[in-house]
Amino acid sequence: MASKKSNKTERNIENSARFSVAPMMDWTDRHCRYFHRRFTSNSLLYTEMIAAAALVKGRAYHLLDYSTEEHPLALQLGGSDPIELSEAASIGVAHGYDEINLNVGCPSDRVQSGSFGAVLMKNPKLVATCCEAMRKSTSIDITVKCRIGVDDQNPEQILPEFLGHISDAGVNRIIIHARKAILKGLSPKENRKVPPLDYDIVFKMKERFPNLHISLNGGVTSLGAVQDLFAKGIDGVMIGRSAYQQPTQILSEVDKIIFNDDVIKSPFDIADTMRSYLKEHCEKGGRPHQVTRHITGLFHGLPGAKKWRHYLSIGSNNDNIDFYDEALAAVANSINKCAA
Ligand SMILES: Cc1cc2nc3c(=O)[nH]c(=O)nc-3n(C[C@H](O)[C@H](O)[C@H](O)COP(=O)(O)O)c2cc1C
Repeated sequence: MASKKSNKTERNIENSARFSVAPMMDWTDRHCRYFHRRFTSNSLLYTEMIAAAALVKGRAYHLLDYSTEEHPLALQLGGSDPIELSEAASIGVAHGYDEINLNVGCPSDRVQSGSFGAVLMKNPKLVATCCEAMRKSTSIDITVKCRIGVDDQNPEQILPEFLGHISDAGVNRIIIHARKAILKGLSPKENRKVPPLDYDIVFKMKERFPNLHISLNGGVTSLGAVQDLFAKGIDGVMIGRSAYQQPTQILSEVDKIIFNDDVIKSPFDIADTMRSYLKEHCEKGGRPHQVTRHITGLFHGLPGAKKWRHYLSIGSNNDNIDFYDEALAAVANSINKCAA
């Protein structure tokens, strides 16, 4: 298996982790990540969660495919068997990923029945054993994305214990989704909005574990809010839904504001690059929709945004990409009309 790690990603991944786009199942696939990377070359991107068993038992290596441009890139694994996870992590390393992240936050029934995801918040020793096994089989960062607790757990009590265990296992970086997961009675979608956000507990964890690189996740919807969190001592911020739904608003100034890199790309520049990517994808036999479904929010909030979405939705099952040029022309037209 040839590693696709690029020299560029020998960069300090901890620095990239100051801003990351969250792992989102069915959303942050390779096409989405390629799109997000057009906005920001510094941020850390995450795959969707991939079950360790799918790699180790199912040999579903196609799930690991990505473009080299996506670095720095973290592979998120789901699992709770230390041997299986360590094998899956090694497979991830052989594919050139820059970080392996363990999912301890997903509340779905399917994941619970495999005894992984958020239910692992109840078993910090097992999480630590899994992390240690992965760490021993790889040379890259092993990180954990967790909740502040599940069900009737008291975060003030269990979160320090959880972090203590995984930090003893050699994990130096953690992402905390700052709300509980309710394992019975709430859907995964409800579990992303019903349990209240509690940023204070995350700030307290940073005070208590100053050497741990802690990223906060959940409900962050602007770069101003990211900066406020940095001012409160948080090391990194991970954004999910708003980065996906309003990519231009959230991602286009990340490199300038968070990483002091003076490059801002306009949505039209991004649309041009995505056209080449889309063309290549279709020439290789892919369907336009596989790419365009992730970029419907590109002009969110700008004149013509509705037309953009409309043209993409009606054209994306076509065999050619003429609809894409029509969509772009419609947006440009709307913007010009507004400016006139
Ligand atoms: C469609 C969708 C799929 C998700 N899939 C995953 C996943 O595979 N792994 C994971 O750790 N979190 C997953 N999440 C949770 C996000 O990573 C994130 O923790 C959550 O959306 C809160 O962040 P936000 O308020 O910035 O969106 C998913 C979220 C969404 C919206």
